[in-house]
Amino acid sequence: MRLSINIDHIATLRNARGARDPDPAEAVRVVERAGADGIVCHLREDRRHIRDEDVKALRKTITTKLDLEMAATKEIVRIALRVRPELATLVPEKRKELTTEGGLDVLRHKRPLAKAIKNLHGKKIAVSLFVDPAAGQIRAAKEIGAEMIEIHTGEYANARSNRERGKHLRRIQESAVLARSLGLGVNAGHGLDYVNISPIAAIREIEEVSIGHAVIVRAIGVGLENAVREMVALVRGGDARGQGSLFEGDDLLEGGDLT
Ligand code: PXP
Repeated sequence: MRLSINIDHIATLRNARGARDPDPAEAVRVVERAGADGIVCHLREDRRHIRDEDVKALRKTITTKLDLEMAATKEIVRIALRVRPELATLVPEKRKELTTEGGLDVLRHKRPLAKAIKNLHGKKIAVSLFVDPAAGQIRAAKEIGAEMIEIHTGEYANARSNRERGKHLRRIQESAVLARSLGLGVNAGHGLDYVNISPIAAIREIEEVSIGHAVIVRAIGVGLENAVREMVALVRGGDARGQGSLFEGDDLLEGGDLT
């Protein structure tokens, strides 16, 4: 199974401070060096994290593959046609949501989705539809020409009991089997973390998972100590080199000159 990392949160953090750091393109180098198979970013209509210039910079930096998450609106499709990601994942978007809240209602929005797919295919961009693990939605995705689906794993991730989790896992597995039998590629994502990933990773029909939040949270968990150690060393007048920096390879501690 392949792993793509969603780097939206890097941009969220940068925007919170109105600064240049942390730079999503810098993060790509670390993520790819660590073995990820692809980079995901979501250019939202409200540009709350990833911005147009990020997408351009990411396109230049990424050496694996770019999966552009996007709503099927005219404006964003036009941008995708220029950027030419390896994959466009169409998602529903609501202004007020904190994150994508569920899969697309493909059955209800067949025509606009089919049009977006056709336009993207015109530039040889593969298209995936983010859908709930529901047979009707998956069949509709095939019908309107998508070559891939991403199964929404949010309900599985949020399940409050083992029984409920098991039920959602079975739905995900059955959906993956159905999609493959229709000739669709199968990705999965949303809410996956270090605890709930293994049963998903065991589903043979799922080819790739897309994970963001849990990896960034983990990065803070394992990186915070080093970051504080480095600053403690500098505050005490010592040398912070060799402690490992956030984006190794940057020259923060390599003779950085602030004068
Ligand atoms: N897949 C899709 C379609 C998403 O919208 C998101 C969240 O941006 C993810 C995967 C990643 O979810 P998480 O950040 O919970 O890992």
